[in-house]
Amino acid sequence: MNDKPIGAGKSSYDLIDSALFFKMLQLDRKLIFLDVACGPGNYCLAAADVLKENSIICAIDLWPEGITSLVTKISEKKIKNIWATVGDVSKRIPVNDSSVDICLMATVLHDLVEVNTEQGALKEIARVLKPAGMVAIVEFKKIEGPPGPPIDIRLSAEEVERIVRPYSLVKEYVVDIGPYNYLAGFTLR
Ligand SMILES: C[S@@+](CC[C@H](N)C(=O)[O-])C[C@H]1O[C@@H](n2cnc3c(N)ncnc32)[C@H](O)[C@@H]1O
Repeated sequence: MNDKPIGAGKSSYDLIDSALFFKMLQLDRKLIFLDVACGPGNYCLAAADVLKENSIICAIDLWPEGITSLVTKISEKKIKNIWATVGDVSKRIPVNDSSVDICLMATVLHDLVEVNTEQGALKEIARVLKPAGMVAIVEFKKIEGPPGPPIDIRLSAEEVERIVRPYSLVKEYVVDIGPYNYLAGFTLR
C-alpha cells in the first residue's frame, strides 16, 4: 500500500489520564491483551509496564512504519511479551478464536467507521475475545477540537454503543479519561 492508512501517525495516549485508564482496565492478573490498530504502540508499551509479567500483548496495525517503530522500541526496552505485526484488522486478526481477555481500540473506531471497515473489525474482535472478554474503546468527545478529528466524524458514547451492540458487546461503563477523551468498556455476552 502506498497511501497511509486513515489515522496513521496519530496517537491519543499523551492526551489521556493514563492512571485512570489503567485503573478502569483492571490489568492485575495474567492476561492476553490485544491492541487493535496500535499505531506506534504508545498504549501497548505503557500496558507492558502495568501488566503482570506472564501476560501477552498482541499489537496489530495496517501501517508498516508504525509497527517498525514499535518493534524498535520493543527491542530497545528489551520487552519480551509484546508481539507486533502488520495486518488489516477488518479482514483478519491473526490470533485464535476465544483467546483474548482485553481488546483495546484506542481512537480508531471513528477512523474505521469513516472508511466503512468497522463491521469486519468488530466481527474479528468478537471472534477472538474469550467469553466475557472486554473491549476498551477510547474515543474523542463530541466537542470541537483540536486536538482530534473533525467533530462530524467523532462518535458519541451512545453512537459507539449502537455500533458495537450487534456483536454481543454490552456496555459496562463510560468514563472521562481527560479533557478530550472518554473510555467505554464493553463485555462480550
Ligand atoms: C488515530 S491512530 C491510533 C493509534 C493508536 N491506537 C493510538 O492511539 O496510539 C489510528 C490507527 O489505525 C490504523 N488503522 C486504520 N485502519 C486499520 C485497519 N483496517 N487495520 C489495522 N489498523 C488500521 C492506522 O494505521 C493508525 O495507526
